[in-house]
Amino acid sequence: MNGIERAAVIGTGTMGPGMGAVLERAGIEVRLFDVSKEALEKAEGMVPIARGVLDKLGTEKTDGGSISFHDDLAAALADVDVVLEAAPEKLELKQQIFAEFEQHAPETAILSSNTSGIPITKIAADLGHPERVIGMHWSNPPQLIPMIEVVPGERTDQATIDAAEGLIAKIGYHPSRLQKEVPGFVENRVLYAIMRECLALVDEGVIDAEGLDLNVKWGIGYKLAVIPPMQLLDVAGLDIYENVASYLNADISTESGVSETVTKLTGEGKLGLKTGGGLFSYSEEELAELPKKRAAALVAVRKTLNEQAV
Ligand SMILES: NC(=O)c1ccc[n+]([C@@H]2O[C@H](COP(=O)([O-])OP(=O)(O)OC[C@H]3O[C@@H](n4cnc5c(N)ncnc54)[C@H](O)[C@@H]3O)[C@@H](O)[C@H]2O)c1
Repeated sequence: MNGIERAAVIGTGTMGPGMGAVLERAGIEVRLFDVSKEALEKAEGMVPIARGVLDKLGTEKTDGGSISFHDDLAAALADVDVVLEAAPEKLELKQQIFAEFEQHAPETAILSSNTSGIPITKIAADLGHPERVIGMHWSNPPQLIPMIEVVPGERTDQATIDAAEGLIAKIGYHPSRLQKEVPGFVENRVLYAIMRECLALVDEGVIDAEGLDLNVKWGIGYKLAVIPPMQLLDVAGLDIYENVASYLNADISTESGVSETVTKLTGEGKLGLKTGGGLFSYSEEELAELPKKRAAALVAVRKTLNEQAV
């Protein structure tokens, strides 16, 4: 496919509006669709915030981009070159939605899912044209994190992979292509491996939650953004890694259940920011200010990383 000019984003909850704003910035005519009127109204408020972040990032603006809001799926899908599904993470729902895409979207459109880990092969299992279905897994917040996992299913064809990667290039993001599907894809597998060890250290009383965060933020967190894991192995020396891994790997958590620190808190209804507290407590003021402060810091870090280009 030569160029993507029109896109439909299906589902305008946490992810859809930011994805739409990024596509719009690249000159794409975007239609945002949701089954919920309330979600659409909320999205109308979220799009300007995402646009503001893109302004702060200094993201180049290509002419011709727009966003419109839709409650009629057929109208949203008419004439589009790509569909980006960002509906709830439920296999049956996604299968049903993709069947509707086949009815209403042009035959030439590629159909992508933002699933965080459901196999694309399963989403496309009962479709007439599974070769045009692909995973494009954005990271939250989509207007800030410039990496998208490209996950072909077993029957996805090369033209679809090329079109997905072409779209990612067009919006100036980095494609991370998986050679095969694995549960959780790559980003979440790595994140969950880190979370498991962090929580095990807290569960075992080696360190408290605050101390753990300080250690990771100013230790590996800061470092990995500049020197990612495979490069870090070369920096450290593979012989050193081999020595340390030969005794340390056997000691690191292999827990297949969920940390008791987490299950205790969920049992008490303490779920994090959305309930006003989780591992930490938050004042009303912090709840209002933290997301803005964090977005501003991510903007600054991303700009610096772009400028340094190491
Ligand atoms: N939130 C994240 O951090 C994150 C990150 C990466 C990927 N994802 C993935 O993106 C997808 C969406 O996640 P989210 O967090 O934005 O979900 P969300 O629950 O915030 O939003 C989903 C939206 O889909 C709408 N919806 C429900 N049924 C629909 C239908 N039949 N057609 C169209 N819209 C429908 C809902 O009304 C809701 O507005 C999921 O697959 C999720 O795993 C989420």
